[in-house]
Amino acid sequence: MKQLPKDFYWGGSVSSFQTEGAWDEGGKGLSIYDVRPTPEGHADWKVAIDEYHRYKEDIQLMKQMGFNFYRFSIAWSRIIPNGDDEVNEEGVAFYNNLIDELIANGITPMITLVHFDMPYKLVKEYNGFASRKVVDLFERYARVCMQRFGDRVKHWMSFNEQNLHACSLIYSNAEKVPEGESKAKFLYQVAHNVMIAHCKAVKALRELVPDAKFGGMTTITQFYPETTSPQNNLFVRQISDLVNYWTAEVQATGKYPYYYENYLKNRGWMPTFEEGDEELLTYTCDYLCFSYYKSNVLSEGHLDMTTPYSDIMDQHVVKNKYLEATQWGWEKDAIGLRLVMNDMYERWHKPLFILENGMGAREELNSEGTVNDDYRIKYHREHIQAMKNAILEDGVACLGYITWGPIDIPSSSCQVAKRYGFVYVNRTDEDIKDLKRIPKKSFYWIAKAFKSNGEDL
Ligand code: BG6
Repeated sequence: MKQLPKDFYWGGSVSSFQTEGAWDEGGKGLSIYDVRPTPEGHADWKVAIDEYHRYKEDIQLMKQMGFNFYRFSIAWSRIIPNGDDEVNEEGVAFYNNLIDELIANGITPMITLVHFDMPYKLVKEYNGFASRKVVDLFERYARVCMQRFGDRVKHWMSFNEQNLHACSLIYSNAEKVPEGESKAKFLYQVAHNVMIAHCKAVKALRELVPDAKFGGMTTITQFYPETTSPQNNLFVRQISDLVNYWTAEVQATGKYPYYYENYLKNRGWMPTFEEGDEELLTYTCDYLCFSYYKSNVLSEGHLDMTTPYSDIMDQHVVKNKYLEATQWGWEKDAIGLRLVMNDMYERWHKPLFILENGMGAREELNSEGTVNDDYRIKYHREHIQAMKNAILEDGVACLGYITWGPIDIPSSSCQVAKRYGFVYVNRTDEDIKDLKRIPKKSFYWIAKAFKSNGEDL
């Protein structure tokens, strides 16, 4: 029987704003999340799960779960509080301690430089990545991180789920479309600027930490057509290329893919390239990271000349009668993971890295004081099995399987009620309580799965 390589990575992935809390401690500046209103009934990000003070305890839990890898993001506003001022040594010390503690416990760290957040001043004063000034400030921040942490951290990423920067402004960095400008043109210019920022980070890593690896990061949804009509199939192909793959294509090959460039040119939305941009794009990545949670079925549609592709996609999502969905309507599809792994590997033949996978559920402690989350065990068992099929049967190269939010954290819209973890954190949206960590049933299962290198599922 074929087995996964001995050095396969297993672990967890989080962002700073969803874990750290301590929003105004240790010299941290205001981040866009500290001032962003959350939907009614959701918490704010000020405490999150208080990782800032509890990382040692949490690393012990990770060790018990058999982690050999942990991906976290740095809060830019902890390192350079307002984005354009001096380095905050207290912030550097926090991440130094976190990294040292991980390594001392046999866990390889990976840094994400930007996971949706940035210092608020950069949005207020420069309109975020709409300004090339912010691209340069990002490069400075990236270089500081590499200089300070690169001696121990050998896995780096720039932007979490970078393709989202071309789907929506709200979800990424809160840039605002200036009065009278076309939303689409602005959106794709910001996406280009973010791509240039990403490439500058790759270039910086090559110079500063030549023995480290850089991963491009994408969120991938497997798309299926609702019908067998040729137009429905064409539409799914176009959406899949544009929504899922264009950023990864640049990260893998060093140039814009023909379909994306022509999509933009045909609509007058091609971004302005500055001198040197073409050359910067050629700084490609060592491997391609992605998050995968679900698949979507799309009804028949077509790309028009005025609406950004992501807005059109949203209007065509319909239910898949073959799949069960989470309480948030995300359709669980392990075979979809095998499909996207093959799709990505076939396109670029670069190693893949699954950096986020998991399912959100509403949960409460039962009378025994724990959570019997058999549905989560089923979800991960099926996804690990599908990944193994892609690797061992199909021949896809993949470095690891990293789960999202292994110790409960608030969701991306700060909903504590949407839990992904193997460990329950005792707080709700309304009440911070004692934040106690309590292993769920899946904690013991995932430990067994990880410690057996994916054999004992
Ligand atoms: C990914 C993000 O898109 O999905 C995370 O990188 C996010 O920040 C995760 O939390 C799950 O999404 P949600 O909205 O359920 O938290």
